Order: sequence, then C-alpha cells, then structure tokens
Amino acid sequence: MASADPLRHHGDAEVRDGHLLDLAVNVFPGPPPGWLVDALVVSLGAVGAYPDPTVAERAVAAHLGREPDEVLATAGAAEAFGLLARLRPWRRPVVVHPQFTEPHAALEQAGHDVTTVLCRPEDDYALDPEAVPDDADLVVVGNPTNPTGVLHPAAVVRRLLRPGRLVVVDEAFMDAVPGEPESLVGSDLDGLVVLRSLTKHWGVPGVRAGYLVAEPAVVAALRRGQTPWSASTQALAAIEVCCTDEARVTAAERAATLTAWRSHLAAALAQAGTRVVPGPAPFVLARVGAGVHARLRTAGVAVRRCDTFPGLDDTWVRIAARPPETTDEMLRLLHALTP
Ligand SMILES: Cc1ncc(COP(=O)(O)O)c(C=O)c1O
Repeated sequence: MASADPLRHHGDAEVRDGHLLDLAVNVFPGPPPGWLVDALVVSLGAVGAYPDPTVAERAVAAHLGREPDEVLATAGAAEAFGLLARLRPWRRPVVVHPQFTEPHAALEQAGHDVTTVLCRPEDDYALDPEAVPDDADLVVVGNPTNPTGVLHPAAVVRRLLRPGRLVVVDEAFMDAVPGEPESLVGSDLDGLVVLRSLTKHWGVPGVRAGYLVAEPAVVAALRRGQTPWSASTQALAAIEVCCTDEARVTAAERAATLTAWRSHLAAALAQAGTRVVPGPAPFVLARVGAGVHARLRTAGVAVRRCDTFPGLDDTWVRIAARPPETTDEMLRLLHALTP
C-alpha cells in the first residue's frame, strides 16, 4: 500500500486495493458539474487537431485580470513542478515541508539536491520565511498547504521574495477557501510563480488540467521546456469553461460546502480530544496516534497516512472533508478503535 518512494506516495494509492470508505483522496466527491462534463464531451469533436492553448489561456487571463502572456496552461500542477525543476540549474532549491511531495520529487528527478525547511508543530505549521536559507534561489510552498491544511497569509508568503529567487506557490487547494483572501494570482508577479489546478475543486484528476501565472519572461521560458501539446484538448476545454461566471458561482458554492464539511469534521475530532491543526483546507491533519491509520484501514476506512511526508510521522493522518454522514461513519469507527 505504501509506494516504494515515500515522496511518490499519494492518497489515491490508499484506496486502490479495496472497497474502503474513502477519506484519503482530496478531490471533491461526486461527478463534476454538468456544464463541465458537457464541455469535455463537446471537446471530443475537436480531437482531430493538435490542441492550441491560446483560447484557454486568454480565458484564464480575463478570469484573473491578468495578461495572456502571464498564463501557461499545464497538464495539471504536476507538469508545472517538472517544468520548474528543469527551468534553471538551481543552486539551492528549497521545499517547505510538510507539504505535497511531488515538487520535491520532481527536483530530485531533475538531479537537484533539495534543502528541506520544516514548519514546526509547536507553531501549528505556520510558515516562517526567516527559516529559509538566504541563498535559496528557488522556494516552493503550498498554500493552503497539503497535508497541514494551513493557509499562510499572502503577506507572509511575499516575505520569501528576494532578488534572484523564484518563489513557487502551489495554490492547488485555494479554490476551497471562500473568497480566496490569501491567493497571489492577482498580485505583483515579480519573482513569483503561482500554480493552480482543476483537479481538486472540480473533481477531474483524470483530465490533467491546470495553469500557472508568472511574469511573461518566466512563462515563456517554462513554455519552451514543455512537451509540445501537453495540455490536451480536453484539459484546455475544461480550463476555459471553468473561467465562466457560472463556474465562479459553482466554485463559491463548492467552497462553502467544503467549509461546512470540514468544520463538522474538525469540531468532532477536537471534541473527542484529538489534536487538529487549524486551517481552511478541505481536509484535516489530525494526531490520532501511532498505528491508527492501519487499524482504520482494517476497519474499512481509508485516510491518508502521513509518515511519508517529511516532518510528520505515523501518529498523524490527513482526513478529507466529506458529507457529514460519511464523516460520522468514519468517526464512529475511529472512536471504537481509540476509546
Ligand atoms: C498540493 C497539491 N498540489 C498539486 C497536486 C497535483 O495536482 P494536479 O492533479 O493538478 O497535478 C496535488 C495532488 O494531490 C496536491 O495535493
């Protein structure tokens, strides 16, 4: 069940081999909205031509109030991690952990030695920009961070910026934060790359759709490193349709739903005396105790193990925000295990 490389272990591996109640995969449950499914189906009519990202990138730019040359469509955020890892001969790339491990794995795959900076449990995993070495020329941070759930204030993230340094902010879960007050997609992009993904909020991991925003010169350099046509016709259709006013309304509804689900989960855990890291992400990092992940699994429930994340161990699990009836079923089994 654990992958050979802990940095390459992901939540989907937790549910692959069994009929488990899934609170491990952090993707909005259920089918994508009908208008998104329709756009994907219609896009099949265009697969006879190579995909052209121009229209989708213009739609993102208009959606975010940016210029089209500040946007790059990608095959999910995962492609962006690889592009960034290969962008420059980084001297001191830093990944702020605990966080999603793919950026770290992509940097290692590209031959870099990665410096790990750990946020601390006693600070509730808050970001301390001073903990990042001065000579770091690349810093990767997640916001809100997977798996801690912490939302770093935009002003604190901006304190990472330095001349000659690129700061990458992975906002794959930002759609789940109502109003997105700490997003940097609309801010001054000097020294910044902001990654977004359609995977989580729209429930389309199989489409492989995302985009990044950065200064035009950085976007152009990243584009040069891209495999031609890597953002598929389906991905581009999805990106475009997720920029409409209708999508904006649905996105806000989904964020409100996830917030309510998370509050229910976090409150119930805290009430039972379980340590929960505060934050607005659509999942909860909870200290349930050593071995509980495996015992929950035996009881038929998948939550995300956390011993594969630098800075965490087997006492922690990440639990996805789900409808209250699913959460309550998980809690019933959890409390039976940990009376
Ligand atoms: C924080 C974070 N960023 C990025 C990704 C990957 O997103 P995508 O499907 O867009 O490649 C994930 C997937 O688990 C994630 O948790």
